[in-house]
Amino acid sequence: MIYKVPVIPGDGIGPEIIAEGKKVLEAAADKHGFGLEWMEHSLGAEHFLETGELVGEETLKELGRYRAIYLGSIGDPRVKPGVLEKGILLAMRFYFDQYINLRPVKLLEGVWTPLKDKGPQDIDFIVVRENTEDFYIGQGGRAKAGRSRAEFEVMRSLYHVKFGLDIESDGDEIAFQIGMVSKKGCRRVMEYAFELAASRPDRHLSSVDKANVLSDIYGFWREIFEETAATYPGVATDFNFVDAITMWFVKNPEWFDVVVAPNMFGDIITDLGAMIQGGLGLAPGANLNPEGTSMFEPIHGSAPKYKGQNKINPIATIWSGALLLEHLGEPNAARDVVAAIEANLRQGSIRTYDLGGTSTTSEVGDEVARLIKES
Ligand code: IPM
Ligand code: MN
Repeated sequence: MIYKVPVIPGDGIGPEIIAEGKKVLEAAADKHGFGLEWMEHSLGAEHFLETGELVGEETLKELGRYRAIYLGSIGDPRVKPGVLEKGILLAMRFYFDQYINLRPVKLLEGVWTPLKDKGPQDIDFIVVRENTEDFYIGQGGRAKAGRSRAEFEVMRSLYHVKFGLDIESDGDEIAFQIGMVSKKGCRRVMEYAFELAASRPDRHLSSVDKANVLSDIYGFWREIFEETAATYPGVATDFNFVDAITMWFVKNPEWFDVVVAPNMFGDIITDLGAMIQGGLGLAPGANLNPEGTSMFEPIHGSAPKYKGQNKINPIATIWSGALLLEHLGEPNAARDVVAAIEANLRQGSIRTYDLGGTSTTSEVGDEVARLIKES
């Protein structure tokens, strides 16, 4: 069996970490008797600066023929913040309707956490972030004093929504952003989170919202969570305001098993999650569409100041690669990749600067690949 996998190394340190990810996944594939054929796509700042194109329809169609994309990182200081992130990364998440953003928060043995007296037994949960709606729909604007009108449009495979807004203001200039969630959009990500929770020993799902203030959008989220919960009597649930959950992640991370969050809060709490599992260098992510094309990427960004230095930790990307293998239906190979990461971290001598070591990106990749071959 040979799996064809599109690869987008992207910007900044993307190419360096993806090279190590490929190396390690190839080692796992060799060991388990399947092949990986990488199909490189040069999306990102370079391509944009040369051609003015972010991601073309043709490329999206081509990528959409495969089940899993391997992505490094997108973002470059030569381009205005948000242009590449929204025009490429979010565009792909939306185009492929990758409505689940899966972000495991797991402290591995041998890794230091800033949380005093907490260890691997305490920090082991999964954040399921909604990935297509909320304040990420990119609809908003500015208006000067006087009257004006603004039109908005949200195209998803689930629906096509248009808004029109009449603005009349005697104030100075204003800015606004529209957040939107839908019943189907909430329900599908919550069902995924409930199924995931039901498959784990603790059977516990925590929902995140801010229903006490943004009660239209997140009161709706909460209502749909309650409705969905009624169909999963075997899963214990609780609600958390987003401000409070950041506190509990720090004080009592052992309370959490699976956490489901709207897009923006999910973004925020997973950087905190990454830090308690040892830093952004270790935090993997998966953008999933169970029926379509999914995309696997570390949750960190393109870290432009480290570009080309062979310095950055490749483990987040390698671990995301393990999620990719699992998604392709190679759970044993995926398990081997995670076990090799764990062995490398436990052993502790070959690690990058963020973990207090002096090894390079490629030395860590070589070592994890070696551990797979030798296991
Ligand atoms: C992430 C990133 C992205 C997000 C940005 C780069 C658009 O922060 O994957 O968490 O906000 O989703
Ligand atoms: Mn983020």
